Amino acid sequence: MAPIQWQYKPFAPSEDDEENIDIGSYTPKSRTTRFKKLVFVFIAVCTTLYLSVRGTQALVRFLSKPCHSTHHWHSKVNHTLGGGLPTHFTLPSGDKIPSVALGTAGRGEVGLAVKTALEVGYTHVDGAWAYRNEDEVGKAWKASGIPRDQIWLTSKLWNFFHAPEDVEAALDESLSNLGTEYLDLYLIHWPIAFKKGTDNVVDLELTANPYPTWKKLEEMVDKGKVRNIGISNFNIARVKNLTANPLKYKPAVNQVELNFFNPQPELLNWAKENDLLLEAYSPLGSTRQVQESLNQPIVQEIAKTLAITPAQVIISWHVQRGTVVLPKSVTPSRVEENLQVTALPQDLFEKLEAAAVSHPPARVVNPSKGWGLDFDIFDDEWPL
Ligand code: A2P
Repeated sequence: MAPIQWQYKPFAPSEDDEENIDIGSYTPKSRTTRFKKLVFVFIAVCTTLYLSVRGTQALVRFLSKPCHSTHHWHSKVNHTLGGGLPTHFTLPSGDKIPSVALGTAGRGEVGLAVKTALEVGYTHVDGAWAYRNEDEVGKAWKASGIPRDQIWLTSKLWNFFHAPEDVEAALDESLSNLGTEYLDLYLIHWPIAFKKGTDNVVDLELTANPYPTWKKLEEMVDKGKVRNIGISNFNIARVKNLTANPLKYKPAVNQVELNFFNPQPELLNWAKENDLLLEAYSPLGSTRQVQESLNQPIVQEIAKTLAITPAQVIISWHVQRGTVVLPKSVTPSRVEENLQVTALPQDLFEKLEAAAVSHPPARVVNPSKGWGLDFDIFDDEWPL
């Protein structure tokens, strides 16, 4: 008997087969094929739509990307990019301080934030001994491979170390934590001196007269450990109290809270008249008020008009007011977003300024009570 010849004929419907499907004899298999086709078309349409939206967004971002879109390392050259917003301000020493910095106070993954910041073009990191994360900041900077002269590092002297004999050791600790030989800027963090080793007991003498502390800071400049020195959280009366002394170096900056709810126009004007650069901390209103700031109708309106984000509107406004701005974020996408400042058209800038100064000021940061002080640090009448 002849062996049975098995004939293998693979099933492969031709295009004609599919086109000639008779609806009446529609099989489950042909239904599956059609379903697959529909899914394929659906995915293709969705992908195309998604890519066009992202593409348009990228184009808008690119066109409105101004000032810091490329890496402008801390050079000694004045840049006026981004529709005229300065990328740097010049200090009395002649050093140029980058106008936008990453603030590093507070919670979260500061190391990752610094890493992201340096990757996307920040050249300025604002820190402090009191933030207890300078080693993390230093490690992230070292890992970036950015040379020391191409990054601006600021730190601050904490309240316990105002006694002249304690200043250098405190500075050395910050230098060692950051892994650097010198700071670009060192600030007196608060105009309040505590007695070392106490539970926030105010040293009345050094608080009323910070000149001995300042003289020690001047010595640190002469030693090459610090390039510029300044103050933080000083109101006008306290600045005058310090600068009434025969200073060798005047304060290069005063770092203060500035935001939509606390725009401090008097302090800003006075500082400009007296050639004192302000740095804006909590520029978005700090964690407590950030959403409220970003949701302000005028901020939303400008963001829409310029196709930028509300945070970019506020950060740009700060630089346009003539201050260094120190937005904090531990969210990589926001860190990148916050560097993209752009000049606001004059009418919109003025509208935002008018809205910010039109309500009673509300300060977010005031540790007076928390520190158990029997006076307000920001009291204009300055009780000491
Ligand atoms: P996060 O760190 O989770 O990104 P300020 O600089 O005024 O102190 O504000 C810091 C607060 O603002 C943080 O809570 C931070 O959140 C948030 N923040 C920073 N940048 C942006 C942004 N571009 N959009 C929204 N929130 C932001």
